[in-house]
Amino acid sequence: MFLTKEEEKIYDGEYGEVLETCMNLLVSLGDIYGAEKLIPISSAQVSGVSYKTIGKKGLEFLKDISNSNIKVSVPTTLNPAGMDLDKYVELGFPKEFAKKQLEIIECFKKMDIEIGCTCTPYLSGNIPIFGSHISWAESSAVSYANSIIGARTNREGGPSALASAILGKTPYYGYHLDENRIPTHIIEVDAEITKLSDYGALGSIVGKIVKNGIPYFKFKKLDIDDVSSYKSYKLKGLGASLAASGGVALYHIENITPEAKIVMKKIEGSNYKEIEEITITDDDIKNEYELLNSAECPDLICIGCPHCSLEEIKEVVDFILKNNLNKNNRFKCDLWICTSIHIKSISDRMGYTDIIENAGGKIVCDTCMVVAPVEDMGYKNIATNSGKAAKYLPNFCNSNVIYGDTIDILKKGM
Ligand code: F3S
Repeated sequence: MFLTKEEEKIYDGEYGEVLETCMNLLVSLGDIYGAEKLIPISSAQVSGVSYKTIGKKGLEFLKDISNSNIKVSVPTTLNPAGMDLDKYVELGFPKEFAKKQLEIIECFKKMDIEIGCTCTPYLSGNIPIFGSHISWAESSAVSYANSIIGARTNREGGPSALASAILGKTPYYGYHLDENRIPTHIIEVDAEITKLSDYGALGSIVGKIVKNGIPYFKFKKLDIDDVSSYKSYKLKGLGASLAASGGVALYHIENITPEAKIVMKKIEGSNYKEIEEITITDDDIKNEYELLNSAECPDLICIGCPHCSLEEIKEVVDFILKNNLNKNNRFKCDLWICTSIHIKSISDRMGYTDIIENAGGKIVCDTCMVVAPVEDMGYKNIATNSGKAAKYLPNFCNSNVIYGDTIDILKKGM
């Protein structure tokens, strides 16, 4: 891989061990994937934040970097941590876990990384523009940035995103290149897809079929306003589910996503006929709901995977008001609404947080049901409206899943 003189000096250790390690990591990745050079990035998003996922070794690694006083060189945000950084005592997070988690956060703070731990950085100020090169790690955010915004990122691991954040560069391969953004499958959706959980089920099916490929969706029945408004949150659910189920980092939707026309022009008349075409029906969706469900009664209802937008919180508030839930008539099980501190602050001002808390729910910031140690907090049956969470909860949290749309799972808690 070609390196500039300055990059070579870093590679040779002239600027110290930490920068050398970061450069070595990026060059190794570039060599493996055939990158010709490094390119500058406009932002980074770093994963590997929860103590549950990185453990003692990860914490030691972060301490080594932060103690060297190295800072990130581009705007960088963090993925969810293992607990709400403000309300961890009130929410009952284990004491020793909390101590380690705070040490991790301290390391990132020392590196000048913004401590707004969220998997929806694009709702909280880390917003790339079309065509910009970025280095993001959270799979659902990678999918959103590539597909909905048209920015360009590979699906980075925690260490490579951190190395890129520090050096401000990434190897030029994969989804950074035009030729790797062309669809591998055409997906005809001949099914009624309206609710968030329908999008999750669709993502779950298609992810399994395309496996690391690039689906191009053609919806037969689609309410364009339902997914194209800035308030729409359903496509973030689709992307998260595609990523969880099949490692999909980029998808296109006819007439919706910004590169759909460009890539279709490229394949028409060339290898279009070689692209596999698949049809998804109502029966497939129904079947997927059944596969994702493994329990009936939740001890915890979790909404916000990926982290909730304000509109998703409002949907819960509307449900509470409609069903007269309040201090005297609360949810019968725990309810977590997972979101970022940014969205929560607006929820506070709108009075949504008070309404949810009165009904016995909690707005939980900085974390989620998957990266928090919910299994150590006694939760066994978790209800979710997220295709990604439904996929991950059994393996990461050893829990059973009640999968359904927002209203359906909220009803289970009454
Ligand atoms: Fe975000 Fe946690 Fe889901 S990190 S995408 S809420 S598994």
